[in-house]
Order: sequence, then C-alpha cells, then structure tokens
Amino acid sequence: MLLTLDRNSDAESVDPAFRRDILSGLAHRPRTTPARWFYDRRGSELFEEITALPEYYPTRTETALLAASCSEIGALTGKGRAVIEFGAGSATKTPHLLSAIAPAAYVPVDISGDFLRESSAVLASRFPGLPVLPLEADFTSPITLPAAVADLPKLGFFPGSTIGNMTPHEAVDLLRAMRASLGEGAMLLIGMDRVKDVDVLVRAYDDAQGITAAFNLNLLTRINRELEGTIPVEAFAHRAIWNDEAARVEMHLEATRNVCFMVDGVVFAMEAGETIHTENSHKYGARDARLLLRAGGWEPAHEWTDADDQFAMLLANAA
Ligand code: AVJ
Repeated sequence: MLLTLDRNSDAESVDPAFRRDILSGLAHRPRTTPARWFYDRRGSELFEEITALPEYYPTRTETALLAASCSEIGALTGKGRAVIEFGAGSATKTPHLLSAIAPAAYVPVDISGDFLRESSAVLASRFPGLPVLPLEADFTSPITLPAAVADLPKLGFFPGSTIGNMTPHEAVDLLRAMRASLGEGAMLLIGMDRVKDVDVLVRAYDDAQGITAAFNLNLLTRINRELEGTIPVEAFAHRAIWNDEAARVEMHLEATRNVCFMVDGVVFAMEAGETIHTENSHKYGARDARLLLRAGGWEPAHEWTDADDQFAMLLANAA
C-alpha cells in the first residue's frame, strides 16, 4: 500500500539550487558542477541505459550479488525492520532485499519527487501488504523519518555505489547524517565499487555506443533549457579519466574550441581544451571501504563481493 502526502510538484519551475550550483560551478576554477544535476527526465533515462551497457559492470554485478546473498542478509538483519532506501528505489535491486528481509515498512527517500512517486508505486504494487512511505527530502543532512516507523529498528539501504559521487570527506559526513537519521540499533547495507584495472574502469565511463557521453552532455542541454543557456553543445566532448591519486573516475566536458556563452544572463568564456568537471566516481579497496564506514559511524559486520572482486556490498551496524 502506497501512503503519500500530496505535496505540490511544479515540474516546470526551475530548482533554485540548480541555478545556484550551475552559476557558481561554471564561475569556479576548475569549473565543477555537482553530479546530482544529471538526473532530469532525459538524464535518468540515459542512466537507465548506462546500467544495461556491456562495459558498465556495477549495476549487474551488484544486482547479482544482492540476489545471491539476500538470504544471508536476511539472517543478519532479522525480520521486521523498516527499510530506508537512500535514493528512489530501483526496480531491479530493491525487490531482492524486500523479499529477503520481510520488512515492516519501506521508506524510499529522494530529492526528486517525480521519480520517487513512480518507483514507489511500482514497489507498492509488487508488495501489496507492505506500507510504502516515500519521503521527498535531501538526505545529505539528517532527516526526520515518518512517525509510523519511529519505533521500528531500521535498515538503511544505499546501493549503486552512489557514495562514490562524494569525496571521502563528504562521504563521511553523509554516513554520519545517515547514522543520525536512522538512530540506535540501525544497520546499513551499502554498495561500493572497487578499485580495479584502469582500462575496465575507464571503459565503464566511456562506452562504445556513446551513451555515457550523451548522459554527460545532457547536462548542457538541461542548462540551456532551464537556465536560458546558449551553450554550443556540439563544441563539447565527453572525457572520462582515471585520477589515481584520488582513486576516482572523473567525467569532464571539454571545450573543443574557444567558446563564449550565456547562462541566466551571465557571460562565460572557455578556451579550447578547458573542461567542466561534471562527476567523480570514487572507488574503494576492501580496507578503504571499512575505514570509510568506521569514520562515518558504522561498524562493518559483513561484506559480499563477486568472484572477480569488482564490486562490494557491505553490511554495518550503527556504532
Ligand atoms: C549512479 C553515481 C553510481 O558513478 O557509476 C554512471 C553514475 N556516471 N556513468 C557511477 C554514472 C556515469 C554512477 N552512480
């Protein structure tokens, strides 16, 4: 059953945070924009396509891991927890978890109300007896959970290596915010991508079909549409590079010639070769993953990886 509070969702209005982030990010050196703004409708569709690409191993590896380990996960968490998913639920991953741990309630939390409502409806129809309580909120700060789950033990679920979008500093802050949101006795099931062969990593973010390039470039199209931009999208090229020092794949949009454009009435000029840094995707070795969790207030309890150690799921207890 789907229980929603009907908040007004004005799909046409531009998020003021988008305007702020893009204007300050484009003015900053190096120019950097937060990865969360990739996900307009088109961007979310392109990301779905990315998850099915032969080069993009994380989604299929994590989904198989979850399917294979869900009875072990259920044994470790016990039944009757409220599952709090950070990010709108994924139709391929979340059902594995929900079937395995027989939760008392399911609370998907996302900043984008549209996606949240859609994915909640799909999940609710697949689990007819389960209270589904979507929460439109920014979970990078501590959030107040619905009163209906206040007294239930919690299981946080943060799949997809979404934590990789954050720098280690930001990731620690986020883990601490989750710890504060979920309370005493909570557990956290989190997916993290591993450090691995550089060619495998770079190909996952620069696929042969150019879907990831389209995903990256769509940010410029979104800026043009929502912020009255005049960015010449065809003058930009997708770049994916491995930053070994920071253990992350970076995505950039590189100006292939000198360009001058306006966004929201502000003029920007970029020289040929200059880039906009649009995403970080941090990768963690086994020890780094545990260290990150501990720094964030979570004590690792169990870890599952695939045979090639490409991707890891970790279960941790609130410290
Ligand atoms: C959704 C943040 C986990 O970093 O792998 C995929 C996003 N960007 N291809 C990732 C993404 C380019 C993805 N996360």
